[in-house]
Amino acid sequence: MKKILITGGAGFIGSHVVRLFVNKYPNYMIYNLDALTYAGNLENLKAIEQQENYTFIKGDITDELFVESLFQEHRFDGVIHLAAESHVDRSILDPLAFAKTNILGTMVLLNSFKKLWKDNWEGKLFYHVSTDEVYGSLRETGLFTETTSYDPNSPYSASKASSDHFVRAYGETYGMPYVISNCSNNYGSYQFPEKLIPLFINNIINNKALPVYGDGNYTRDWLFVEDHAMAIDLVFHEGKNHETYNIGGFNEWKNIDLVTLLCQQMDEKLNRKKGTSAALITYVKDRPGHDLRYAIDATKINKELGWKPSVTFEEGLSETIDWYLKNKEWTNRITSGAYEKYYEQQYQ
Ligand code: NAD
Ligand code: DAU
Repeated sequence: MKKILITGGAGFIGSHVVRLFVNKYPNYMIYNLDALTYAGNLENLKAIEQQENYTFIKGDITDELFVESLFQEHRFDGVIHLAAESHVDRSILDPLAFAKTNILGTMVLLNSFKKLWKDNWEGKLFYHVSTDEVYGSLRETGLFTETTSYDPNSPYSASKASSDHFVRAYGETYGMPYVISNCSNNYGSYQFPEKLIPLFINNIINNKALPVYGDGNYTRDWLFVEDHAMAIDLVFHEGKNHETYNIGGFNEWKNIDLVTLLCQQMDEKLNRKKGTSAALITYVKDRPGHDLRYAIDATKINKELGWKPSVTFEEGLSETIDWYLKNKEWTNRITSGAYEKYYEQQYQ
């Protein structure tokens, strides 16, 4: 039986990946290592927590002794590394926390994996899940490809860029087999409501202002989280050693256009008068160092591995809104306490 360690499996994307792997691969033992920070929630994994091929381990990836003993005990064949501090606005408030988890935490995992297998890498793989933000910002035209130079602008993207470099360095220096993927903005169920789409859905439900940064003309490429999880499955099993794959939705939206579409869908689903949700749009102070535009060229993963997104944005967004409307308790539980303090500080 293959033993696969998934880090950050109680978070947004990680919980989709854990669910997919536990259900699809009964012949794998899936270990989910997560510190359960504000962003990690075991409720996300209720559907699979009793399965025999699944084990949850609470722990911090920056804890070197703990992580090393875990690798020695379980002798993981593969690692799919998602654990991270992931929110750009929080990285502006507390950059050191991002350096610690995203850089040091990744190095601790790499080091433990190297210690275990350095004499025989056969059948082993370290898969590092990263972001398109490492490439920096595009102007009005052009796309990020796998050979675009790194040019990160936020403490979050700088920490992710650094972790990508360390993964490559372990590959070159110690012969560690690895793959990296850099993905665009994800949306879907179980996303913590600090990110644009779930934050705005939650605010519309509660008739709160929708804080659009700057002029709202920033552009992102949006991908349904289940499509990202399927891409991760493909890259893990069929990606070429020491290669990078860009993953994106072929789906660019200016923030203000996305918010307008979201408001229209919310009015319909809540049976509110047309324009009710859009009236909540409020332009607020811009994010410092705000990247103008991200857009992914996902030709390589499409041509080499046959991956493409399975849903349109309108379908994915509608499904996402329905999930949040059905799971208000989930949102209410995680947005109390510490989150309220963060919200006040961020949007005072
Ligand atoms: P998330 O914030 O929802 O989840 C992160 C998870 O990591 C949480 O469960 C948290 O408890 C855990 N974690 C944080 N610090 C930890 C530590 N020190 N030790 C162990 N566990 C820890 O993040 P997400 O949005 O699901 O992103 C997952 C990964 O995908 C990240 O590496 C992120 O950079 C990358 N990514 C995210 C997106 C996106 O749009 N959300 C896009 C591309 C890439
Ligand atoms: O591109 C991939 C990245 O996408 C991931 O690596 C990150 O983990 C993920 O958080 C996401 O980063 P963004 O900064 O693009 O996502 P966010 O949802 O925070 O913001 C999306 C856009 O919406 C961005 O231009 C900022 C804007 N925004 C965001 C918030 C939270 C607002 O206008 N108002 C807001 O309140």
